[in-house]
Amino acid sequence: MRERLRIALTKGRLQDKSVELFEAVGLDCSPIRDPGRRLVHSIVNYPLDAVLAKAPDVITYVEHGVCDLGIVGKDTILEQGRSFYEVLDLKFGKCRFALAVKAGSDFYGTYKTRRIATKYPNVARTFFEKKGMDVDIIKIEGSVELAPILGLADAIVDIVETGATLRENGLVPIEDVAQVSARLIVNTASMKLYKEQITDFIDRCSAEVERRA
Ligand code: PRP
Repeated sequence: MRERLRIALTKGRLQDKSVELFEAVGLDCSPIRDPGRRLVHSIVNYPLDAVLAKAPDVITYVEHGVCDLGIVGKDTILEQGRSFYEVLDLKFGKCRFALAVKAGSDFYGTYKTRRIATKYPNVARTFFEKKGMDVDIIKIEGSVELAPILGLADAIVDIVETGATLRENGLVPIEDVAQVSARLIVNTASMKLYKEQITDFIDRCSAEVERRA
C-alpha cells in the first residue's frame, strides 16, 4: 500500500492544462511549476505525487500500476489503450483526428488501393476497416503532412487542432475520424485498493470540469 497516490501527466500541452485544473481544485502545484531537472513532484497539500512523461509512457505506467492515475489524450488511448479505466473526459486538449488529402484530389474516386500516412496506424486501420476499405498504411513519426506533398501517400490521418498545418501545406480535411480530448485514467487494481482516495480525486476534478462547462 502506498501512502500517497501517484499520477502520470503528459508532458507539454496537456501538462499546463492539468496543473491549471489541479490548482483550480485547491492543489498546491508549485513543485510542478518549478520542476528543475526533477522527475517526481510532490503536491504540497494533497497526498499525490506527479511524474511527467510522454503520452504513450503515461499509459504504460498506469497499466503496470506504478502510477495509479494518468492524464493522457484520447488520441494515444485510441492508438494504444489496453487495460485501465477511463474515468473522466477533462474537456481540455480538444482536437480531432481527420482524414486529409491534397486540395483538389478525389480520394474516393478511384479503385486502386489508397496509401495512408499516419503516426496512428491503429486508429487509421480501424477507421478504414469500418468502411470495408482496403488501404495500405505507412507509419510516419512526425510531420505527416509531408507524405502527400512528396507523393508517398494519397491521404493522411492526423491530429487537427487549428487546421493551420493542413492549410499551410495545401491539404484539406475531408472527413472526421474521431474527437480527441484529455482523459483521466486509473489503474484497475488501484481503483480497488485506494477507492476512497481515488474517488475523492475524481470527484474534485469532475466538479471543476462541470463548473467550466
Ligand atoms: C500535430 C499534428 C499536426 C499539428 C496540427 O503535430 O500532427 O501536424 O499538430 O495542429 P494544427 O491543426 O493546429 O496546425 P505536433 O505539433 O504534435 O508535431 P509532430 O507532427 O512533429 O508530431
